[in-house]
Amino acid sequence: MRVGVLTGGRDCPGLNAVVRAVVRKGVQEYGYDFVGFVDGWRGPLEGDTVALDIPAVRGTLPRGGTLLGTSRTHPLEHPDGVRRIRDNLAKLEVEALITIGGRDTLGTAAVLAQDHGLPCVAVPKTIDNDLHGTDRTVGFDTAVGVATAAIDRLHTTAESHKRVLVVEVMGGETGWIAVHSGLAGGANAILIPERPFDVDQVCAWVTSRFRASYAPIVVVADGAAPRDGKPVLTPVAGPASGVRLSGVGEWLAREIEHRTGKEARTTVLGHVQRGGSPSPFDRWLATRFGLHAVDAVHDGAFGTMVALRGTDIVRVPITEAAAGPKTVDPALYDEVSVFFG
Ligand code: F6P
Repeated sequence: MRVGVLTGGRDCPGLNAVVRAVVRKGVQEYGYDFVGFVDGWRGPLEGDTVALDIPAVRGTLPRGGTLLGTSRTHPLEHPDGVRRIRDNLAKLEVEALITIGGRDTLGTAAVLAQDHGLPCVAVPKTIDNDLHGTDRTVGFDTAVGVATAAIDRLHTTAESHKRVLVVEVMGGETGWIAVHSGLAGGANAILIPERPFDVDQVCAWVTSRFRASYAPIVVVADGAAPRDGKPVLTPVAGPASGVRLSGVGEWLAREIEHRTGKEARTTVLGHVQRGGSPSPFDRWLATRFGLHAVDAVHDGAFGTMVALRGTDIVRVPITEAAAGPKTVDPALYDEVSVFFG
């Protein structure tokens, strides 16, 4: 049997580890051969492929990025997108498709599997950890590790200069990275999209932190917004022109300075959270997801996504992951807020 593999949407550490495990087990245990689709859904849409065999995945376990390339192509936005994918899979004799992605990519896989009967199996990945159905997504642990290491470093320089340091982390519509790295890094305030913040309250935490003779670290998710405002979007020019979810850190630092009279600076961690080598946990998770995804293909369990529940890998309907973002539980946020101020 020939199996196609694609990685779609924004990249994250651990994608190559998934692909490697899929290919290793698929070839060794089941005698499958593989075809890599290039740049996410653009690959099957345009029939763009790359050779994918054991030599192609050798040495890729610790490598960041994706050897298959990625894009945010939406085949369902093309009037004949489903037909083109079906025709290309038939032409290439691909009988199953392993789709590794976040909500967008897996949303497409869910529709293709459920409404059009295409043989898709899904693997959840995103640094944001915002997919329902699984305790963790591939890439999240690495991003939290990078952000925590940065917060650790920022503490010492904040102390030396008695400044407020605002750290803007990624996360999109959710605050998973902010909550986990903020807690691990001992932040004095953690601001997330799920809980619009009160700037005066943040300033009160900052002031009380200085009173205790420490310099405050404020971790803010890129999608967080003040109670009476909206997420900060930064306009961009160039090939990817439009607006970007970024800028809340700088905005907040200016407000803190203005309201408290204390110097405040911002560090925007940006794509350093998405690039580079996956953490040991992400290598473990990605590898197990890959092994279980190829088992799901073998069992004909199409329309399912492999998922982590506790320490078990289970199968859930892909539709579960595609439904809305999985937001931070208010009880978890309340639990960590004991450290604010
Ligand atoms: O979804 C992953 C993510 O890194 C978010 O955390 C972040 O808000 C967004 O993508 C940034 O996207 P881009 O790389 O397109 O600017």
